[in-house]
Amino acid sequence: MPVPSTVTVIEGHDQAIRAATAAIGAAVGDAPDRAVLAMVGEQLRALAARALPWDMLRLPAGALSAVHLLGLGDRDRVALYAVADAPGTRSIPHVHHTWSVTIGVEGVEANTFFAHDGARCLARLGSQQVGPGDVAIMTEAEAHATEVVSAAPMLHLHVYGRPIHVLAPFATRVLAPLA
Ligand SMILES: [Fe+2]
Repeated sequence: MPVPSTVTVIEGHDQAIRAATAAIGAAVGDAPDRAVLAMVGEQLRALAARALPWDMLRLPAGALSAVHLLGLGDRDRVALYAVADAPGTRSIPHVHHTWSVTIGVEGVEANTFFAHDGARCLARLGSQQVGPGDVAIMTEAEAHATEVVSAAPMLHLHVYGRPIHVLAPFATRVLAPLA
């Protein structure tokens, strides 16, 4: 996954994106529970309902993945992205070392959630098909695996408690699957 080095400014929407990022940062504190993260989901829903220039955020022709950093909160506590992945894109079970909230915009990504001990998946907690308008929540304690199951690319708005570029490398965050 490419590391975005600068915040993508979306003309006419950057003020709303900055405001949403700041509001989310103020709401979440250091260890938000699922109720707080559900409120973050509603803030993402409001942002996704705006006429953002989706054409510049969709997957470019021939690409497998595209990530745009849209907003960054104080002290690297909140990072808002637009993420696009090609059909069939999968991730094996992994942790983020932070919370995340996602809203689907286009396409469908299947998510499976796991309890874990830091090295392996211990139990399947549930699954969710994240399509347009669907919100998926993960606390820091949870892991997930994903697969884009739609025939068209998926496009999501995604907020993490920490920016992707400061997380440990993906290879160090993967878990052994359920036995
Ligand atoms: Fe993930």
